[in-house]
This record gives sequence, C-alpha cells and structure tokens, in this order.
Amino acid sequence: MDGTVALVTGAAGGLGGAVASGLAREGALVVVAGRSTTRASEAMAGIRRLVPGAKLEPLVCDLSDQSSIHAAAADFLSRHDRLDVLVNAAGVFRKERQVTRDGIELTFATNVMAYFLLTNLLLDALTHRAAAPPSNSRIVNIASRYGNVRLNFDDLQTAGGKYSYLRSTPPTMLARVLLTQEFAERLRGSGVVANAAHPGLVKNTTLLQDVGGPFRWITNTFGAPAEKAADTPLWLATSRETTGVSGKLWAKRKELPTPGMGSDPEARKRLWDACAHLAGMP
Ligand SMILES: NC(=O)c1ccc[n+]([C@@H]2O[C@H](COP(=O)([O-])OP(=O)(O)OC[C@H]3O[C@@H](n4cnc5c(N)ncnc54)[C@H](OP(=O)(O)O)[C@@H]3O)[C@@H](O)[C@H]2O)c1
Repeated sequence: MDGTVALVTGAAGGLGGAVASGLAREGALVVVAGRSTTRASEAMAGIRRLVPGAKLEPLVCDLSDQSSIHAAAADFLSRHDRLDVLVNAAGVFRKERQVTRDGIELTFATNVMAYFLLTNLLLDALTHRAAAPPSNSRIVNIASRYGNVRLNFDDLQTAGGKYSYLRSTPPTMLARVLLTQEFAERLRGSGVVANAAHPGLVKNTTLLQDVGGPFRWITNTFGAPAEKAADTPLWLATSRETTGVSGKLWAKRKELPTPGMGSDPEARKRLWDACAHLAGMP
C-alpha cells in the first residue's frame, strides 16, 4: 500500500489500533485519529512499537462532538487531497445515558452520527482517489451482528428514561450496517466501496471492560485478540479479492446475512435522513 493514505478512527483502541498497525505494516501512510492530542500520540506510539518505521500522522477528533469532526475533516483535507481507506472503528458501550454538547445521546452520537458525518465530510478525498482505476477507495465500518434488533425511529436516542446499554447499543450496530449500505448505494459507480465488518468478541478491549460485570469475564474468556479480529476489516481495506465489493456485512472473510431491518431499503433511507437532519445537512 505504499503511496496510499488511510485514516483510522478509534486507533487508540484495541481493534482500531490493530487495524491501523496492519495498514501501516502494508506501507500505507496512516492518519491516526484520537479524541485528543495525547490519545493520538499514545495510539501512534503503540503502532510504532509493533511496526517500527510506520508512516503515521496524528488527527485530533472528538467523535462525539460535531464541531470537532468538522475541524478534523478540514484538517485532514488541508493535508491530503486523497483518501484510499477510511476505517471507522471508534465506539462506546456506556452504562449511563449521557448527552453530548450537540444535545445528542452519546452512544448514538459516537456509534452512528460520527460514522455518518466524518465519512460524508471526507467523500471528496475518497472519490478523488477513486478516479484512478483499477482499485477502489474503501470505507470499512466496524459494526456487528445485530440479531433481531430493530431501530425505533420514534426514539433513536433512547430518551424517556428507557436507556440501558443493552437496549441502546445493539441498534447502533444495525444502524452502522444500514449506513454502510446507503453509502454503498449512493457511491455506486464512483469507484468508492463501503463495507461493514463484524469483528466478533474482542479480547481485553476497554469497550466492554467499562461495563464490567459479566462482560469483562466474557470478553476476556471468549474474545479473540484484536490482531485476529482485525483480519476481516484489513482484508476489506486492502485485498484485491474485495475490489468492487460493496454494501455487505462480513465476518471471518465471509458475507453475513443482514436479516430483518438490515434488508429494508426504507429503513436505511429513514436513518440517513435522520442523521442528515441531526448533522444539519441537506
Ligand atoms: N469489543 C468487541 O467485542 C466488539 C464487538 C463488536 C463490535 N465492536 C466495535 O468495534 C469497535 C472497536 O471496539 P474495541 O473493542 O476496540 O473498543 P475500544 O478498545 O474501547 O476502542 C474504542 C475506541 O473508540 C475511541 N472513542 C470512543 N469515543 C470516542 C470519541 N468521542 N472520540 C474519539 N474516539 C473515541 C476510543 O478512544 P479512547 O480510548 O480515547 O476512549 C477507543 O480508541 C467499536 O466501534 C465497537 O462498537 C467491538
């Protein structure tokens, strides 16, 4: 991937860090997004320990804050006019309901809105790259299997005292799949592809540790090391095999079904419109 530019969010975390390291190992210049200068520096130091000589640049972006996402996108575009790979890997799994400075419930803001907004703001750089065939520019959204979860369009931010991490987080994984499909549809013919990856349970990452209780035990006992969980996202981001593939959910390099609402074009359009409204986009 020498000469290519990649951007990874959540790069200070377990999975995002492993994906960023993998891209750096392949020779890409990896723009390492962290919520602060310190987190971005820590992420870069972690990657350099694994990949000495990695080509890295920091990008400060608090993904729960839309003004920070706008500033980070502008910062990126002031440095680069091309983006070959965008991996959205940041996420939260929070016990308590919190509201961001934009007035959006934190889990929805970070897990869904940030994916929507950052990707939209970087589309010019992604499509610029796509002008050079035969390979694609690639968007890889970390998501998850979502079972029989549905989105409640009347209450996407779990208001009204109904918040719990089990009620509020799984729908954001379905939302990521729907947004991935909608990006794929809108970008059809542009040379940019978008896919979602289910990493499985990842061992020892802070995401589930924060919730504690059985999750800590479950993730540490049954989770796969982040390096292993990063295989499918990296494959989607770099492999010739996945050139031209778009709009799918993958795990262990196999396409997964997207049952229920995950196959409903109306649902993905409604979600897109809701996100555009919350982001103040036309
Ligand atoms: N762990 C699993 O079993 C599992 C399963 C399915 C899907 N996933 C998804 O996989 C992704 C990676 O999870 P992980 O297990 O690697 O968790 P992790 O280690 O907790 O990583 C999450 C990353 O997101 C970053 N982040 C959170 N809020 C942010 C914000 N407002 N601004 C900027 N960065 C922010 C964190 O930064 P800080 O460290 O600075 O907070 C961290 O780098 C997540 O999107 C998650 O939903 C995970």
